[in-house]
Amino acid sequence: MSILLTGGLGFIGSHVAASLLEHGHDVVILDNLCNSQASVARQLELLCAKPIPFYEGDVRDNAILATIFSKHPIAAVMHFAGLKSVAQSATDPLLYFDNNVGGTITLLQAMQQHGIYQFIFSSSATVYGIPQYLPYDEVHPTCPINPYGRTKLQAEEILADLAVSDKRWAIASLRYFNPIGAHPSYTIGELPNDQPNNLMPYINQVASKQRPFLTVFGNDYDTKDGTGERDYIHVMDLAEGHVAALRLIQKSAGLHTLNLGTGQPYSVLEMIQTFEKATGQSIPMKIGPRRQGDLPIYYACADKAKVILQWEAKRTLKEMCESAWKFELQRQSLFK
Ligand code: NAD
Ligand code: UFG
Repeated sequence: MSILLTGGLGFIGSHVAASLLEHGHDVVILDNLCNSQASVARQLELLCAKPIPFYEGDVRDNAILATIFSKHPIAAVMHFAGLKSVAQSATDPLLYFDNNVGGTITLLQAMQQHGIYQFIFSSSATVYGIPQYLPYDEVHPTCPINPYGRTKLQAEEILADLAVSDKRWAIASLRYFNPIGAHPSYTIGELPNDQPNNLMPYINQVASKQRPFLTVFGNDYDTKDGTGERDYIHVMDLAEGHVAALRLIQKSAGLHTLNLGTGQPYSVLEMIQTFEKATGQSIPMKIGPRRQGDLPIYYACADKAKVILQWEAKRTLKEMCESAWKFELQRQSLFK
C-alpha cells in the first residue's frame, strides 16, 4: 500500500516523503509546482534509490485524483498542498479559500468515492490567534487573525464534521509551529520561490550574501529581549511526527488534533546568535518596525503528542541552524 502526499515536493512534504521512505512506506506525490520544483522528486528518488510516482497536477482536479486512486493502492493521504503566505492571504483571500479549503473538500470527496478514510492534515498554530494563555494547548480557543489561519480552521471544522458523520474516518489534524532546517543529506530543504517571508530562509540568504542584511521586525515587544519569540521545530522532527501520526490513524478512528512543536520559544535575536555560532557566518541586521499581524510570542504545549503519538521533537536549535545552512551551501548546485 502507498501513501499519497499532496504538495509532496514542498518543504514539509518532501521531508515527510523522505521519512516515510526510510520507514519502508511507498509514496505517491501530487504537486502542481506552484511553490516547488520538479527536481525535488529526483532528489527524493536518489535518496531512496527507487522511482517515486509523481503527478504534476492540482489537488482541486477531480480527474487527476481519480487517476491516482485508481492506479495506486493508496491507504492514506497526507495533505500538504496549500498556500501559506499570511500577507498574500490578506490581499487575495479568495485564492486562499479556494486552494486551501476548496482543495481539501475536493480531495476528501475523491477519497470517500474511492473508499479511503485515513487522512493527515497540515494545520497550523495560526488557528489559535491571540494567546489567552501560553503555551497553547489543543483546547486553547481558536480565533485566527488572518485569512490564511481561517482557511486552516475551516478545513479543521470540515474534518471534525466528517469524523462524526462516518466512523470509518481516521484523521490527524497536525498543528505545526515553526518548521526549519533540512534533511541530513542536505539534498532537500526549504526552497522559497520568491523573496522569503520567513525568518530562517531569510537568514540563510543573508549568510550567503544574496541579501545585505536581515530586518528584525520590532524590538519593543513584551518578550525576553523585545523581539518576537516562536517555537522552531526541526523539519525532520516534524516529519517523524507524521510517521507517528500515520501509525495512530492506522489503529484509531476519529479526529485527533495535535500540536507539533517543541514547547521552547526562541527570540529573533537568539536565532541570529545561534545561527552565527553554529555556522561561523555573520548576519548583519537592522531593527525595523513591527510586521503587521505578528504576535509577540507563542509556543506549543507538546504534551498531547508525547502521550498520543509517543513522539517528541529531539533536535536542538543549533542542529536546525546547521542543517539549514548546509542545505543552502548545496542548494545552488542542486537546484536552479
Ligand atoms: P510549501 O509551499 O513548501 O509546500 C506546499 C506544496 O504544495 C508546494 O510544493 C506547492 O507547489 C503545492 N501546492 C500548493 N497548492 C497546490 C494545489 N492546489 N495542488 C497541488 N499542489 C499544490 O509549504 P510547506 O511549508 O511545505 O507547507 C506545507 C503545508 O503545511 C501547507 O499546507 C502549509 O499551509 C502548512 N503549514 C506550513 C507551515 C510552515 O511554517 N512552513 C506552518 C504551519 C502549516
Ligand atoms: N522575522 C523577522 N524578520 C524577518 C522574518 C521574520 O524579524 O525577515 C520575525 C517575525 O517577526 C517573527 C519571527 O521572525 O517574530 C518568525 O517569523 P516567520 O515569518 O518565520 O514565522 P511566523 O511565526 O510569522 O509564521 C510561520 C508561518 C505561518 C505558520 C506559522 C505557524 O509563516 O504560515 O509559522 O506557527 F502558520
